[in-house]
Amino acid sequence: MHRYDVVVVGGGIIGLVTAWRAAQQGLRTAVADPEPGRGAAHVAAGMLAAVTELQYGEQELLELNLASARRYAAFAGELSEATGLDLGYRRCGTLAVALDADDRADLRELHAFQSRLGLESEWLSGRECRRLEPMLAPGVRGGLRVDGDHQIDPRRLAKALLRAADLSGVDFHRSEVARVEVVRGRARGAVLRDGTTLTADRTVLAAGSRSGTIGGLPEHVLPPVRPVKGQVLRLRIPAAYAPFLSRTVRAVVRGGHVYLVPRENGELVVGATSEELGWDTTVTAGGVYELLRDAHELVPGITELPLVETLAGLRPGSPDNAPMLGEAPRLPGLLLATGHHRNGVLLTPVTGDIMAALLTGGEVPPQARHFSPARFSSRLEQPA
Ligand code: GLY
Repeated sequence: MHRYDVVVVGGGIIGLVTAWRAAQQGLRTAVADPEPGRGAAHVAAGMLAAVTELQYGEQELLELNLASARRYAAFAGELSEATGLDLGYRRCGTLAVALDADDRADLRELHAFQSRLGLESEWLSGRECRRLEPMLAPGVRGGLRVDGDHQIDPRRLAKALLRAADLSGVDFHRSEVARVEVVRGRARGAVLRDGTTLTADRTVLAAGSRSGTIGGLPEHVLPPVRPVKGQVLRLRIPAAYAPFLSRTVRAVVRGGHVYLVPRENGELVVGATSEELGWDTTVTAGGVYELLRDAHELVPGITELPLVETLAGLRPGSPDNAPMLGEAPRLPGLLLATGHHRNGVLLTPVTGDIMAALLTGGEVPPQARHFSPARFSSRLEQPA
């Protein structure tokens, strides 16, 4: 048996940032995960796109996304400094473009909405878009230039968080969690499939899309998280073609989002499908076809590039697309850090801050109050 102050169930980027921040606060911390540093971040493109991914009706989430975007430079600097690792953090901006008249009208609406909210985005004509990004299709009708929406390499981010947590004294238990231990109505840590028991005053459930399936928890405590499949492609930009794109380029094509994220190391990430197919992570011919077709409409030259990887991951979807950060209703000792859906990479810095504050009894950032798991309490609190 091992004793800790905090046991984190799940070693994806959210679990790792929570563990790192907890250990920095002097808490004895463990992470339980068979493969820490993998999870959805291994698939994600890493857009930090609070403004271009703005959705109607999600203004509170926007505030949290913007707060995390503002934190990113300092967070990435601190993490790089602590680990000596480059995170691929690139302050390159994003261009969202329209391919036809309907897209243009939609993007105009989005621009008006962004302007009402005081967000910085600039409307460009098709010609101005192509002047910025000459590889864009000649038919591009216009676009939004958002210089504040950046990117990071999520695989490097995960690797750095793993190292930072390790250097801060976090223990890693590389086994699956069989169950959260509940003793006399309080969460007390976790029992792992390899038989290890991790005892702790606080247990943090940060298991991404699996968070709603963890054993040992009463049905009414399990968070309403579901897997949302995303297929993603990785291409390589040969040196002779560089600079292929200088910023993230995205569009809505036939109702689906497509984005191209060019990294400094020559990788070009093309994403992503959004599919409600349960636990399926098959890469399908249809998914790859749709991504390539839509990306080709946007940037015809991509068909020349080597395709080096196809992969599918599972976003941790929540009923309102926003994360659950805080005490689980009716189970003292259990905290949730899950349900980040499309924004896990973006929300990593602020999630770390919020979880550290919650775990130490410190002042919780005011923007966190909208994301308490209690907002789903009618579901969470009603025993079936
Ligand atoms: N934030 C990008 C995605 O979830 O596809």
